[in-house]
Amino acid sequence: MSTSPQNAYPSPVPAGHVGAVGRGSVLRGKPASSVTILPVRDVSIPKVSLEGISLSYRTTSKAQLVALDNISLQVRPGEFLCVVGPSGCGKSTLLHLIAGLYQQTAGQVFVDGKAVNGPGTDRILIFQELGLFPWLTVAQNVEFGMKMKNIPKAERKEKIQYYLRLVHLSKFRDSYTHQLSGGMRQRVALARALATEPDVLLMDEPFAALDAQTRDLLHDELERIWAETGRTIIFVTHNVREAVRLGDRVVLMTFRPGRVKQEFPISLPRPRHIEEVDVARTAKEILGCLREEINKSIEAEYADEKSR
Ligand SMILES: Nc1ncnc2c1ncn2[C@@H]1O[C@H](COP(=O)(O)OP(=O)(O)OP(=O)(O)O)[C@@H](O)[C@H]1O
Ligand SMILES: [Mg+2]
Repeated sequence: MSTSPQNAYPSPVPAGHVGAVGRGSVLRGKPASSVTILPVRDVSIPKVSLEGISLSYRTTSKAQLVALDNISLQVRPGEFLCVVGPSGCGKSTLLHLIAGLYQQTAGQVFVDGKAVNGPGTDRILIFQELGLFPWLTVAQNVEFGMKMKNIPKAERKEKIQYYLRLVHLSKFRDSYTHQLSGGMRQRVALARALATEPDVLLMDEPFAALDAQTRDLLHDELERIWAETGRTIIFVTHNVREAVRLGDRVVLMTFRPGRVKQEFPISLPRPRHIEEVDVARTAKEILGCLREEINKSIEAEYADEKSR
């Protein structure tokens, strides 16, 4: 697939968007000297900008499947953006594109105004399948990505300590991953990703396999970590309440081909809880629009079955 770069510069961000601004009061304690807390940036330049992105896959029958169609979207520095949409609408594809792991058929992805032409240490993709190494301890797993980045040993040591404390796993630093619960393993994966200090965290349904209590705890922790470190997060989920619980904005995608159907700014005060009435009310509104897309996907499936 070839790349056809389009606009050289991303569009300006709408006025009134604040990103990480104003979150300073949430900062707790002093981080280790080598740990990078992202400063409040010029929010007039989007952190991530998608300009007319399309992506087609070649299917086994050699036909073209248009997964993403002309997506334009800007993400502010320090924004927590959630993406929802029916299964198969291209959410994972979109994250892989931003990570630089897939290449678009048309359009361009920009990070900090620079065109993305491959993977970079400024972005990291976190999956539901965590990819932790069972033969390494918790601390060694967290260290792994930093070794790949050639971070000096003393700095690695400091960062392991800081990020394990951030996810409340200091006591388990010498445990192996099979000795941890699912939620703890998810936190190790988060610490490992954070330790490489990417500006942008791309999270693909990271909590989908967890029980409700563990997921609620991780929501609190992720929100706190986001506030403390100033990272930009793009978070894909099927759970609309989770999206409203966490996001500054929820983007709803259409059924195939994936397009942006609607954006919902979420201005509810933080911290939020998934069971709150206001969260449920907002989620219901989004769910109404999502159901239309899910129905289309079901109809398309029936049509496919009939034609076979
Ligand atoms: N490597 C591939 N080759 C061909 N088609 C693919 C490939 N990867 C994904 N697709 C197709 O592209 C579409 C989008 O897939 P994608 O995995 O991005 O959807 P998704 O929104 O993440 O779905 P889910 O919510 O189920 O995870 C789907 O129709 C899928 O079948
Ligand atoms: Mg997916």
